[in-house]
Amino acid sequence: MATDKELLKQIITGRRSTYPKDFKYGAKIDDGVIEEILSLAIWAPTHKLTQPWYFKVFRNNGVKAFFQKQSEIYQTITPQEQIAPKKIEKYAIKAEQTSHVIAIIARHHPENKIPEIEETVATACALQNIYLSMKAFGIAGYLSTGAVCYTPQMEEFLGLNPGDKCLGFFQLGIPADNLNVVNRKRIDYQEKMEWID
Ligand SMILES: Cc1cc2nc3c(=O)[nH]c(=O)nc-3n(C[C@H](O)[C@H](O)[C@H](O)COP(=O)(O)O)c2cc1C
Repeated sequence: MATDKELLKQIITGRRSTYPKDFKYGAKIDDGVIEEILSLAIWAPTHKLTQPWYFKVFRNNGVKAFFQKQSEIYQTITPQEQIAPKKIEKYAIKAEQTSHVIAIIARHHPENKIPEIEETVATACALQNIYLSMKAFGIAGYLSTGAVCYTPQMEEFLGLNPGDKCLGFFQLGIPADNLNVVNRKRIDYQEKMEWID
């Protein structure tokens, strides 16, 4: 039996981003699986236990409305001559390929006296729990951001409160049978650290 350390290593290094083109076209994840994943996401560390994360989960027609809105916003924020018809087409295809979209929201309440950056970091930890759970549950997906994510139009669509920040959208699906193997790379940790005596 694998030790905790071996399992953890396997899940962390095996975690990956998978894009909608590699989803089983239109196949749906059970809502129960999404709930299970969110029930793990909330075990992220959180200063003063403010638990600043909030998740808005799009499913069924909600997914279609989400991509429709992304497409609309893209077309309003992009100079006319730079609008790429391919991108508009891609939004429409994604609406069919994707099972669920989870908007990851960091909720900052100034009265909690926690700096906004800490609420963002805590929510990013919850976000990583989702990425790791995707691996453990055999779900495909990736975190999508981009210029559209941070627009006032998207804030309005999401019904955000003052102090809320959307950190991105998990676009989720069932992995295709012949899912491509990706050669994920990282700069060696030794180049990203130093000992201080
Ligand atoms: C904060 C954040 C924002 C991201 N935004 C995008 C995005 O807008 N589009 C995209 O294709 N991937 C996005 N990604 C996913 C990265 O492209 C992906 O993590 C990276 O390529 C490394 O691949 P891996 O997740 O398989 O290790 C984002 C990831 C993070 C953490």
